[in-house]
Amino acid sequence: MVETRKINASVTRSITAAAAALSIATMVSGVIVGFVKPKDEAAHRFVLSTALISMGCGAAYGLLPRSKAPTASAVSLSSVQSSPVQSSSLASANSSWTDWRNFVVVRKVKESQDITSFYLKPADQAEIPNFQPGQFLTLKLEIPGQSKPTIRTYSLSDYADPCEYYRLSIKREPMAQPDLPPGLASNFMHDQVQEGSVIQAKPPSGQFVLDVAKSLPAIFISNGVGITPLISMAKACSRLNPDRPLWFIHGARDGSFHAFQDEVREIAQQNPNLHLHFRYSRSRPDDQERYHSMGYVDAKLIREVLALEGIGLDQAEYYLCGSPPFLQALRDGFKTLRVPEERVFFEVFGGAKGASPAAEIPSSQGQGAEIVFARSEVTLTWQPGDGTILEFAEAHDLNPEYSCRQGICLTCMCHLQSGEVEYVQPPVGTPKAGSVLICISQPKSNRVVLDL
Ligand SMILES: Cc1cc2nc3c(=O)[nH]c(=O)nc-3n(C[C@H](O)[C@H](O)[C@H](O)COP(=O)(O)OP(=O)(O)OC[C@H]3O[C@@H](n4cnc5c(N)ncnc54)[C@H](O)[C@@H]3O)c2cc1C
Ligand code: FES
Repeated sequence: MVETRKINASVTRSITAAAAALSIATMVSGVIVGFVKPKDEAAHRFVLSTALISMGCGAAYGLLPRSKAPTASAVSLSSVQSSPVQSSSLASANSSWTDWRNFVVVRKVKESQDITSFYLKPADQAEIPNFQPGQFLTLKLEIPGQSKPTIRTYSLSDYADPCEYYRLSIKREPMAQPDLPPGLASNFMHDQVQEGSVIQAKPPSGQFVLDVAKSLPAIFISNGVGITPLISMAKACSRLNPDRPLWFIHGARDGSFHAFQDEVREIAQQNPNLHLHFRYSRSRPDDQERYHSMGYVDAKLIREVLALEGIGLDQAEYYLCGSPPFLQALRDGFKTLRVPEERVFFEVFGGAKGASPAAEIPSSQGQGAEIVFARSEVTLTWQPGDGTILEFAEAHDLNPEYSCRQGICLTCMCHLQSGEVEYVQPPVGTPKAGSVLICISQPKSNRVVLDL
């Protein structure tokens, strides 16, 4: 009877409840009379009237408004909450944080000669939100000998729902030139951060993300440690939209530098729509079964690989991640082969001092500009050729926080108290209203006041 409350139409609900009441009453009283007074006519009349009264009660019960029963949306919400996948997503929506949160390194795994993965769980043991495949975490590291915390961003390299940990996979950055120090944060992570170490992180962020629901073939193309956000994309899409045609094309020097080879092959084994192509530039004799072709990953290779399945270059979208020269060569190649620009998405893992694209870019502020760093109580004169405001500040011993130095991560975001700045390249991340990204900006007005 209670189940009839789930029927929406009141007439149907009333008829169903009446029929149910009639059947139950007839059955129960019939069985009792049959055993106690099988030949008594009065008893038979009693059975009949009991059945009719029950049917009337059932009909009336069915006509009662359903206000006390759960509504359709409440029913579906509670049923959603009881499913493990959905419940984690709902809980995740409430489990985010805004500033820094402590994470414990629960596992550290060497993936290749120079890449190591770090599995992070929140120290408070509460839930963590899931993320869009392709996003990154920003870390704050207390590195001995540094006067202030070092901020760096690392892509999330795994995907699962529910999300129980975050995995970052970090390449040990060597010295760019013999007279320069090796990478500060990456070497600290490799050498000093162990299982049990605690590090601080901001919530997942970033706009280099895959729209999993699309049906257009997605081609993931990476070299070196650029593989990290693309594994997350390939895993998420294989799980949530397995009908989508996917290609995973990766370049490595040789087998010893090729991280996640087994993991990617495993995803492809479970998802027949995921095609792989691994290309090595300097293969070793024992790499025989590990790669498909020799050379560098370029636009020509992508065209050949897609043609094998009858797909033209203009029939897919492309997700690129890797070193700056690799990305530049691929994007140039795509341009030559007339791949529509709006189909090509990419992320560069920049970050090195001196690697800023802005230094050589002419400023519309033809003359010098006064920059007031208000919190530091320093006023300096910037000249065209002094580079970005971040570079200019560093050159004068101010050390603003930064990570990507490319307008992606928002680490350098700074409130603009007065004046105007101009971007030397369009920001990828969106700064808060009234704030600017100093890693990619120069003064536009002749006086700029920054809360820095
Ligand atoms: C969105 C995003 C996601 C990223 N995801 C990943 C990821 O998943 N995995 C990963 O490994 N990395 C990733 N990175 C890169 C990462 O954030 C760091 O940039 C990288 O680890 C290097 O940091 P570092 O502190 O070790 O090196 P740094 O200390 O920043 O040095 C980098 C290089 O610059 C050289 N250098 C030092 N000083 C100077 C100078 N004065 N002039 C010129 N060169 C100098 C060093 O020799 C070194 O080779 C990502 C970056 C971004 C922006
Ligand atoms: S340092 Fe990343 S946006 Fe400026």
